[in-house]
Amino acid sequence: MTVTLQTTFLGVTLKNPFLLASAPPTRNREMIERAFEAGWGGAIIKTLTQVEEPAWKNVRPRIRALREGTRILGFTNMELASMRSTEEWLTDLAAIKRRYPDRGLGASLLYGGAPDEKQWRAVAGSSEDAGVDWLELNLSCPHGGAEEGGEFSIGSRPEAIRKVVGWVRESTSLPLIVKLPAFSDIQAGTKASMEAGANAVALINTLNALSGIDLDTWRPIPSVAGESAFCGLSGRAVKPVALRCVALAASMHVPVSGMGGIYDWRDAAEFLLAGASSLQVCSAVMEHGYGIINDLCRGLEEYLRIKGCSSPGELVGRALSHLVSHATLSRDFRAIARCRSAHCIRCGACFVSCRDAGYQAIGWQNGEYPVVDAEKCDGCGLCVGVCPSGCLAMETQ
Ligand SMILES: Cc1cc2nc3c(=O)[nH]c(=O)nc-3n(C[C@H](O)[C@H](O)[C@H](O)COP(=O)(O)O)c2cc1C
Repeated sequence: MTVTLQTTFLGVTLKNPFLLASAPPTRNREMIERAFEAGWGGAIIKTLTQVEEPAWKNVRPRIRALREGTRILGFTNMELASMRSTEEWLTDLAAIKRRYPDRGLGASLLYGGAPDEKQWRAVAGSSEDAGVDWLELNLSCPHGGAEEGGEFSIGSRPEAIRKVVGWVRESTSLPLIVKLPAFSDIQAGTKASMEAGANAVALINTLNALSGIDLDTWRPIPSVAGESAFCGLSGRAVKPVALRCVALAASMHVPVSGMGGIYDWRDAAEFLLAGASSLQVCSAVMEHGYGIINDLCRGLEEYLRIKGCSSPGELVGRALSHLVSHATLSRDFRAIARCRSAHCIRCGACFVSCRDAGYQAIGWQNGEYPVVDAEKCDGCGLCVGVCPSGCLAMETQ
């Protein structure tokens, strides 16, 4: 079977479903063109906004890695939208599109505060003249303008969404993608967006967070001259939240551009199965660079081949029919833990968790293999989760 990664998203044919998200990897033309050379299917530019105000300046530092040992679990950031002017971006967008007509190009827009109707309308119209394929309305950044009634506070209020999307819809015939906040009523936001004329939603933006607190100074971090502010969390840590949001919107039969913790082809396949029909990536590129596109594409292509699918489109939403309300889940289904001793490193992690947070169903002596008491095991799955060697598995009864 011939397998292709070719994907159509809102009428645009992409060589693969992978887009750079509106974020640091799409700060300027040079970066986007380098990413296209590396093989990305498209890009959404770092959010375009009004940069004239004197207060429009980024703080330093503004990005922090959330680590567990050497592994980065996510990033927290309090970066504002692009510092580049609308004129600079419009010139660059037209140039990028001329040079790479086969890639998807989206302009991300935000005119918040008290939403600025004139700006929304004007820039929507001129982005269309620049030749972009999509407009992404960033109604979901949790910091910066969000505190003054912009971004997040627009996207979490269906009436405000309707108003902004309505203005933009009247000003352009381009496909509109509305980027909604994860901490909001996803289905209400999706409904408001689509009824006001949007063509798709994008989920998720970063999650509202407090990055941490310095234990010496007792001040929140990152420290900007001794003070800090709430920020946005992205990366591996947000993936389950992102999958939920994508599934909620996709189950309304709405096209979804999914993002939030896509690092490898497995993550990509999960987002497709949850209902995303294009995939955006930010944190993984911040950590590993544009080159990850090779592994993303190779891995996804091979997975499609193994699964007998000819394109990513065949995966879109395929998990959704098995996502039901908790109340309808079977109470008769039984599974219990089993230990395959050949792989066991006899660390005792399963024993401790089961003893102190489970059902005291695992017997273990230092240096010995654990023994699961099938009578006592309630099948909760905790021991399988904490086992570092993968020797524990759930077995259906
Ligand atoms: C440092 C940083 C800056 C970001 N800036 C923007 C932005 O300007 N506009 C926007 O819509 N999203 C912005 N995002 C959010 C990303 O586009 C994306 O929604 C989020 O990071 C989740 O994807 P990820 O887990 O792949 O990073 C930013 C994210 C980070 C980490």
